[in-house]
Amino acid sequence: MDIDWDELRAVATDMLEHAYVPYSHYPVGAAALVTDGRIVSGCNVENASYGLGLCAECGLVSNLAATGGGQLVAFVCVNKDGDIIMPCGRCRQLLYEFSVPGMLCWTVAGIRTIDEVLPDAFGPRDLEAVR
Ligand code: THU
Repeated sequence: MDIDWDELRAVATDMLEHAYVPYSHYPVGAAALVTDGRIVSGCNVENASYGLGLCAECGLVSNLAATGGGQLVAFVCVNKDGDIIMPCGRCRQLLYEFSVPGMLCWTVAGIRTIDEVLPDAFGPRDLEAVR
């Protein structure tokens, strides 16, 4: 599948303006290509109860489910300068749940697979293994 990384990054960057970040002042935009070719995206949404803040990736996976499901083929997230950032640890797990095997991530070290970004991941297959 062809991945238009520049378009993905542009969609992630466009999401920055929707971020709700009155506490950290650190907007994050995320975008991903889905198996059926559509692009899903999200931004971070914080909360006065700080620990309840939602990362951009939370919005992205919610957008994925709400617009028809599928699996993620390629992912990117950016900060307010439009620079590539790494998904936080929790969000790597969120993304893993919905990733195709070998999903690609644009990282600070270039394009990496989800397995490089989250090695030896725990996932749905581990649950199936003991059913
Ligand atoms: N943040 C994300 O949205 N995604 C990440 O992967 C890294 C961190 C958000 C959470 C918080 O709203 C702000 O960035 C500062 O940590």
